[in-house]
Amino acid sequence: MKTLFSDIPKPILDRMQAMEEQDARDRSDGTSDLKRLRQIPPETGMFLALLASSSPPGPLLEIGTSAGYSALWLSLASKLRGSRLVTYELLPEKAEMARETFKKAAVEDAIELVHGDARGHLSELEEIAFCFLDAEKEMYVEFYELLVPKLIPGGLLVADNFTSHAETLAPLLKQARKDKTVDAVVLPVGKGLLVCRKLEPDG
Ligand SMILES: C[S@@+](CC[C@H](N)C(=O)[O-])C[C@H]1O[C@@H](n2cnc3c(N)ncnc32)[C@H](O)[C@@H]1O
Repeated sequence: MKTLFSDIPKPILDRMQAMEEQDARDRSDGTSDLKRLRQIPPETGMFLALLASSSPPGPLLEIGTSAGYSALWLSLASKLRGSRLVTYELLPEKAEMARETFKKAAVEDAIELVHGDARGHLSELEEIAFCFLDAEKEMYVEFYELLVPKLIPGGLLVADNFTSHAETLAPLLKQARKDKTVDAVVLPVGKGLLVCRKLEPDG
């Protein structure tokens, strides 16, 4: 049986390693937020791949591609499912870097990159099986309200930075915990992941 992590192709591993080194350099030399990769740590990537591959059949999304590091992890799940990850990036410079990442890692068949504000694209979608939200924290409430109604039963919304930005995101955490359509939990993986699983509708 094929496992998610045992046979990661070399072009993906090489690109991941180069990006981890670049990210560590950027964080230590004070590179501005606009330029640096701002990517998740590897343990978050592995956990996301596991969650995405266990979500019900249906579309896999990511909001906030940056240079494509988390999308590389998620591509392991999309390859296993025989589907494509759709990932959205607002900034043209970052979208260009992501395009280069996906080409070098040879995952263009598993990932569709959409350049633009994800908020303008979500209305095109009817249902979502899994979404990783990793954009600006000020937009999270708006994204939550757009995404959760489109999750299919058992579908997952996973959002980053719930421990690193606990204060900013406290109102959304309160909202998710009160939301009767999801089970919500914050897990101390990486910078803190909010995981919301959509419930079956009553009836
Ligand atoms: C924290 S970084 C994402 C890091 C990436 N998920 C990773 O781990 O490799 C956030 C990214 O979200 C993008 N972004 C912010 N608002 C967005 C929006 N409304 N639609 C699409 N992308 C957005 C930013 O330009 C930035 O590149």
